[in-house]
Amino acid sequence: MRAAASRVRVDVFVDAGDTQRMLEHDVRSGLADTPKHLPPKWFYDARGSALFDEITRLAEYYPTRCEREILVREAPSIARASAEGGVRTLVELGSGTSEKTRILLDALSAACGLRRFVPFDVSEETLRAASHDVADAFPSLRVHAVAGDFERHLDRLPIAGRTLVAFLGGTIGNLVPAPRADLLQSLAKILSPGDLLLLGTDLVKDPDRLVAAYDDPTGVTAAFNRNVLHVVNRALGSDFAPDRFAHRALWDAEEEWMEMSLVATEEMDVHVPVMGDPVHFAAGESMRTEISAKFRRSGIEDELAASGFAMVSWMTDSREDFAVSLARRA
Ligand code: SAH
Ligand code: TRP
Repeated sequence: MRAAASRVRVDVFVDAGDTQRMLEHDVRSGLADTPKHLPPKWFYDARGSALFDEITRLAEYYPTRCEREILVREAPSIARASAEGGVRTLVELGSGTSEKTRILLDALSAACGLRRFVPFDVSEETLRAASHDVADAFPSLRVHAVAGDFERHLDRLPIAGRTLVAFLGGTIGNLVPAPRADLLQSLAKILSPGDLLLLGTDLVKDPDRLVAAYDDPTGVTAAFNRNVLHVVNRALGSDFAPDRFAHRALWDAEEEWMEMSLVATEEMDVHVPVMGDPVHFAAGESMRTEISAKFRRSGIEDELAASGFAMVSWMTDSREDFAVSLARRA
């Protein structure tokens, strides 16, 4: 047992059986649809999380570096606002490795005597590892991790006392507008007036830079995208040949989002046991795996307001590539 184990607790709302059923459901409905699609939450098994980690270190993938720059510069002001509000708990949605979050944990521990960290992620393996790492690094903190789906289990979060919720990485942009509004509204419901939300969002910019960030020349992003097929094969016994799918990243100027797809390089039939009939792909047929919406200040302010959050501060990196918004539950 590790030294910090007594300060770590992990609640699991999606166990292996639930994960299996959710994946089955998503694969059935996504592959039966025209055009085909798969939801992005299945990218992040252990290999997918490691590949995402590699993405965050790519020269072309600016969001992580920009967000870190903002957090380093603004941690003192975020901590001050949290201390004034009496924040005792930091909740993090889609926490992953919680790497950038340490900047906040440092500042909050110093400024407001933060007691509890609640990382929340659908990927249990990554969540457990990150929880222990954080508990080791922050001896005064209790870590109450929650393995769950932030689109379904927000109401199960252990919220008590003044809370700051961090939702970083631009992950909110992986939801289309209606589920995004649902998520913000569910969040408003579990929080109390005066609680704080720290939201990371990528911003609209030159499409060439956006496309480069999601289609690097070394193929790390392509490997990450194809990883979802390995996840489906392993869990459902299907026989997708990942190397017969090409990675595609397109800027949709109308919707202002990046759209990631896997494109069949040849005609093929894929056997997916839960589907009955083989799943047919025409040569060149694409299957959407993720959107990554890019935002503008006014849009974020409006979406926050519509869900009961008032923007307190808008913080960007020096190039205005990425924004972190601090908002208060009204
Ligand atoms: N916050 C980190 C990680 C971002 S990657 C960063 O900024 O670098 C997105 C993370 O969200 C992954 O860890 C993934 O497992 C998690 N995630 C994706 N969909 C989710 C969902 N529906 N519920 C909970 N976590 C989810
Ligand atoms: N949440 C990340 C983002 O929107 C996920 C991501 C980065 C991603 N690169 C990708 C998803 C490539 C699919 C394909 O930036």
